[in-house]
Amino acid sequence: CLAGGPAAAQSSYPNHPISLVVPFAAGGPTDVVARSLGAAMSKTLGQSIVVENRPGAGGTLAATHVARAAPDGYTFLIHHNGMATAPALYRKLPFNPLTDFTYVGQVADVPMTLLGRKDLPPGDMVEFIKYARANGNKINLANAGLGAVSQLCGMLLQEALGTQFTTIPYAGTAPALTALLGGQVDVLCDQTTQTIPHIKAQRVKLYGVTTLDRIKTLPDAPTLQENGLKGFEVKVWHGVYGPKGTPPEVIAKFNEALRAALKDPAFTQKMAELGAEIVPESKQTPAGLQSWLQSEVDKWGPVIRKAGVYAD
Ligand code: MLT
Repeated sequence: CLAGGPAAAQSSYPNHPISLVVPFAAGGPTDVVARSLGAAMSKTLGQSIVVENRPGAGGTLAATHVARAAPDGYTFLIHHNGMATAPALYRKLPFNPLTDFTYVGQVADVPMTLLGRKDLPPGDMVEFIKYARANGNKINLANAGLGAVSQLCGMLLQEALGTQFTTIPYAGTAPALTALLGGQVDVLCDQTTQTIPHIKAQRVKLYGVTTLDRIKTLPDAPTLQENGLKGFEVKVWHGVYGPKGTPPEVIAKFNEALRAALKDPAFTQKMAELGAEIVPESKQTPAGLQSWLQSEVDKWGPVIRKAGVYAD
């Protein structure tokens, strides 16, 4: 029987696995959130969510892939602040985050940590500031490319310090952290969703957290603003997107699964352990993500243009 048009197809949605595209390397902070979220959402959807890592160009390759994918509810993107910073960072961005996607909702907010390799000389943030100013481009700063939050944090840090490091880009902060652990780079600003176990095991030096207030999971860690960088703040947020034109019924089902996951104890407990905070219900909606994205594009565009950091 060939009965059923698009409406019938949607009522049986989802009837096969769904791809959730992660714009950075496997094992890194975005991947950690995506895999836990996918596992929780699949309980509601009755289909598995398969994480697909498509790193490159600071997350913009993955976003381009999803913008061009069939809007059938089987390809979604999870991305962070990079969705909002990319338009100012890339002169030839192949997608427009404000017009080429369908919005599902936000997930969780994650603090960042400023780390040094274990044997980097400065013992704390005050010493780090002096060391950074004295050594400038002799210091290697790892990041995950233009559009990564590690890049955003590093850019703001260099601006605040009035110094310029040598930047070494990786396909994600998973390989960047591996390089820091191996002593091949000196400094990395990265999310607690990846860094907490390494901080607790003292495999890296922690100079501070990038939130305005101290965080529950690392109560002894000072904020950067406590130690000389007044007002320094980078908070990572996550959104889930489908290609433009994904049917509203599909988005409604996917959003329902997202909201259920954000209440799932297995997911919420894991996020809490890793320093992530589930967003309030008002942000767990398509409209909540869309208006937040717009405000972040408006916020970061001028900051990035002033810093003069971009790719042709
Ligand atoms: C990652 O998952 O590798 C990170 O989110 C990269 C970054 O934005 O720093």
